[in-house]
Amino acid sequence: MNTETASDSPEKIDTVACIGGGVIGAGWAARLVENGLSVNIYDPMPDAQLRMQPVFDNAERAYAKLTMAQRPLKGEIIFCDSIEAAVTSAQWIVESVPERLELKQSIYAEIESHAATDAVIASSTSGIMPSDLQAQMQHPERLIVAHPFNPVYLLPVVEIVAGQKTSANMIDRARPFYTSLGMKPIHVRREIEAFVADRLLEAIWRESLWLIKDGITTTEELDDIVRFGFGLRYAQMGVFETYRIAGGEAGMRHFLEQFGPCLTWPWTKLMDVPEYNEELVELIAGQSDQQSGHISIRELERIRDDNLVAIQQALKANNWGAGVILADYEKKLFDAGAVQVAEAGQAEVDHSQPIRTTERLIPPDWTDYNNHMNEARYLQCFGDATDAFMRLIGCDAEYMSSGGSFFTAETHICHLDEVRVNEPVYTLTQVLMSEGKKMQLFHCLHHGDGRLLATGEHMLIHVSLETRAACDPLSPVKERLADIATLHANLPQPDGVGRSVGQERAQAQAQPRAQSRAQSRAQSEEQTSS
Ligand SMILES: NC(=O)c1ccc[n+]([C@@H]2O[C@H](COP(=O)([O-])OP(=O)(O)OC[C@H]3O[C@@H](n4cnc5c(N)ncnc54)[C@H](O)[C@@H]3O)[C@@H](O)[C@H]2O)c1
Repeated sequence: MNTETASDSPEKIDTVACIGGGVIGAGWAARLVENGLSVNIYDPMPDAQLRMQPVFDNAERAYAKLTMAQRPLKGEIIFCDSIEAAVTSAQWIVESVPERLELKQSIYAEIESHAATDAVIASSTSGIMPSDLQAQMQHPERLIVAHPFNPVYLLPVVEIVAGQKTSANMIDRARPFYTSLGMKPIHVRREIEAFVADRLLEAIWRESLWLIKDGITTTEELDDIVRFGFGLRYAQMGVFETYRIAGGEAGMRHFLEQFGPCLTWPWTKLMDVPEYNEELVELIAGQSDQQSGHISIRELERIRDDNLVAIQQALKANNWGAGVILADYEKKLFDAGAVQVAEAGQAEVDHSQPIRTTERLIPPDWTDYNNHMNEARYLQCFGDATDAFMRLIGCDAEYMSSGGSFFTAETHICHLDEVRVNEPVYTLTQVLMSEGKKMQLFHCLHHGDGRLLATGEHMLIHVSLETRAACDPLSPVKERLADIATLHANLPQPDGVGRSVGQERAQAQAQPRAQSRAQSRAQSEEQTSS
């Protein structure tokens, strides 16, 4: 199995078709639209759209918590009434229909009669070999298995498996595509039934059924043994790293020596399967109802999602495992935001005008008891705008790794109007002053309809990340900032500059710009020297 991460950029995919919109199809569609791709969905169930909506809502909620990075605007979801309508314009086709070989094969036949011949077909199958899936296809070379995990929009891993007729370059096409969606594609080197993850899960599932059938434990006790014990370990280290540590200083060799003999003991019933009958279903499902029946499935999903987000964020703080994938994903989002701003700056936006630094929809968990965005998120919006402006002038991750950055020394926010969940906002940023180590910014947060929602005035000081002391910025930040500051010096003073708390806006406006600047400067100098 090859676990290396693809570094090359993904091909340009705008539209993806999802054939089948159950648990997995809906999860794929959610991940795709949250990453800005348009998705055409076909599912013959009349209430498919109704059943998928809660998954989209959960995904939106989870992404709002997963990352503060500005994500692309959501892609469009189109519900189609035929496979033809869904696949004709798609460059990537995700098949997530029930796990029956003949059904999947008949669906590929229909897809192939309408889709472009180079459109990729990626099956979500949990265990059918890709060679069997592609056996009757006209263009079998474009079929891969891309086996995800539920919830698809939050779990990064996707097993990529090629069949005998899959073309060699399909793996290289698939890797960057899934990486761009914040995933960790792992190429399973040789096709086997159930691939790797489900082989492991099948083992634990069989043992679990036996342990309950034999009356050794209940579903709840077994789940507790997992979640209070080795389940916690597995989120951060896998089987082999975990056991390597368990071998003490001598590592894996000692672990094998110690536990090797157990391999011959009759510890497991793995090759034996409990008989599947009504009695078994009643036993397992009955205990499961008793354990968790008081919480709805949607509520359980939200609890699961919150925990998965928290775990990934904790791992990110430790730069480990799935946290590294999240950090890489965020870095790409930040870089893309900087490129967008830079491109907009060159293509349409005149740098002599306030610069559009951010654009987003208000996430669902940014509101308070009044059902509008809470005050802390106004600062979040301005912090994001400052970050975007910093990247625009070249103060990006690379510059920071060379030792320089801006720290905010002072902030003044005026809250002027309300904004609600899912409403669009954008920020315009003006440089009020740039002198040596100081940079004074003025952000205007607007509603998508143009209304001014808030203003934020910020004094930032350039610092050395090594000594933590103030210092002048280096190239190219120094020159880029100076260029924009020179252009912005010709702009009228924005309404509210230099305003103190409680002061009428008109009063602040009446203040001449030079005077207001001098005051701000004096105040910040006082502050930084104290
Ligand atoms: N559930 C999981 O945990 C999981 C995880 C990974 C992979 N998978 C795989 O994903 C695939 C889908 O599984 P699921 O759990 O989402 O199943 P599901 O039963 O929840 O969804 C299947 C969907 O396919 C639709 N469908 C049926 N016939 C169709 C047709 N002719 N055309 C289009 N859509 C059709 C159904 O209406 C249903 O909405 C399977 O291959 C499964 O092995 C499942």
